[in-house]
Formats: sequence, C-alpha cells, structure tokens
Amino acid sequence: MGRKFFVGGNWKCNGTIDEVKKIVNLLNDGKVPSQDCVEVVVSPPYVFLPLVKSSLRPDFHVAAQNCWVKKGGAFTGEVSAEMLKNLEVPWVILGHSERRALLGETNEFVGDKVAYALSQGLKVIACVGETLEQREAGSTVDVVAAQTKAIAEKVKDWTNIVLAYEPVWAIGTGKVASPAQAQEVHCELRKWLHANTSPEVAAKTRIIYGGSVNGANSKELAGQPDLDGFLVGGASLKPEFIDIINAAE
Ligand code: G3H
Repeated sequence: MGRKFFVGGNWKCNGTIDEVKKIVNLLNDGKVPSQDCVEVVVSPPYVFLPLVKSSLRPDFHVAAQNCWVKKGGAFTGEVSAEMLKNLEVPWVILGHSERRALLGETNEFVGDKVAYALSQGLKVIACVGETLEQREAGSTVDVVAAQTKAIAEKVKDWTNIVLAYEPVWAIGTGKVASPAQAQEVHCELRKWLHANTSPEVAAKTRIIYGGSVNGANSKELAGQPDLDGFLVGGASLKPEFIDIINAAE
C-alpha cells in the first residue's frame, strides 16, 4: 500500500520578514517532484503563517508549530486549533521534543492536544523520540511506544496523523541516526501500530524521520522501507531543503 512521501520543514523560532520572504522565494523557485509523489509542508513561527501562506507556491502547505490543548479562551499567549482552522492552516506539529523537554509537555498532554486538533479538522505531525540516556539504557522502543500509546488512547482515526520519529540526540546536533538505526525504530513503531491500533493504520500511517537530516544524508535515509519522509529543522531554512524534497524520488 503506497504511502506518499512527506517532507516537513520546521523553521522553529527563526526568521525575520525579509528572511522569511527569501526562504519562500527559494521554495517557490525549487524544482521538486509533483504532489502525486511528495507532500511538502513548511512550518514557520505563528506570526509569519499568514505571510507564508499567501506567498507560498500552491503545491506546498503550511503547519503551525503548536496549538492549545482545548477550545480557546482565557489562555494568555496560546493559539487555538480553531484559530488555525480559521486561518486555513491545515497542519500542526504537536509533541515536539523541544516542547516536551523545555515546556514540560507530558505524553498525556500531547495525546490530548493531538485529539483536540484532529477534532477541529487539523492534520497533525505528532512527534516522538528518545533521549540519548534512554537510548543508552536500551529503552528506545519503550519510550516511543509509550509516547505513541498516549496518542492512540485518545485517537481512533489515524488518517490525518503523520508520526515523526525524532531521536532527541540527533536534533540539531549533526549526529544523524544511521539509516539502519532509523529503520529499526520506524519498523518497531509500525509493529506497535499493527498490534495496538489496526493493520490498516499500521500500513497507511506515514512515519517520518527528523534529526540532522540534510541534503547529503536524505537520499539513503529515504531508501529505508519504513521511512516515509522527513521532519527537517536547520536544513529547512537552507537551499538544501530542495535536495531533501527531491530525495522522495
Ligand atoms: O523538527 C525538526 C527536528 O527537530 C530536527 O531538527 O533537522 O535541526 O536536527 P534538525
């Protein structure tokens, strides 16, 4: 069963108006495979979402980097799923390890966020991944399974979820997981989905990799059977993002 390759660019907390315009121009001029072959979603900071959405080529889409766990209201500083929907932002990244680690987002909280965002009609890039300590302790699969379980407990329909495996030790460090390391965890995640959701969800859900992906390493990673794309941080702000998208072919 075909899973369309997915490339997300997470711009994190970076950019000025001029820098954002430059990145959008770069993306708009890039030669990439058709939408039939690859789905591309870029995720600027909230404040730049309308600018990016209005100037980005129509075959690429946008994602927010977070949203609030329930309906909006008296939650200073938060942005609700309803607002993203109102702005016609189709995707949201949830459960990124930076938010888990720096802002204390628990597995349960991330599960609630995913369920609420889906209920409002958003599509979700849900992130899981282990720390270096957890990997060295041999608990990688337990950690990502627990993070995925917290989502599965709140969500029945996985159609609009892309699962992003992002080992924390590989994020922004230049230490990319080897293709074999990535494949091993992606395969375990798919097995987990098979056993705990359904064979159909396991076969159809895209599991993408994030952590020091660049133009040079993307092609070999993309060749792994259970790796259905990337969530790219630093390199999504650079011309090599186009090369990464082209790894889909
Ligand atoms: O969301 C993206 C990941 O955190 C990967 O970031 O490509 O800079 O390592 P990175």
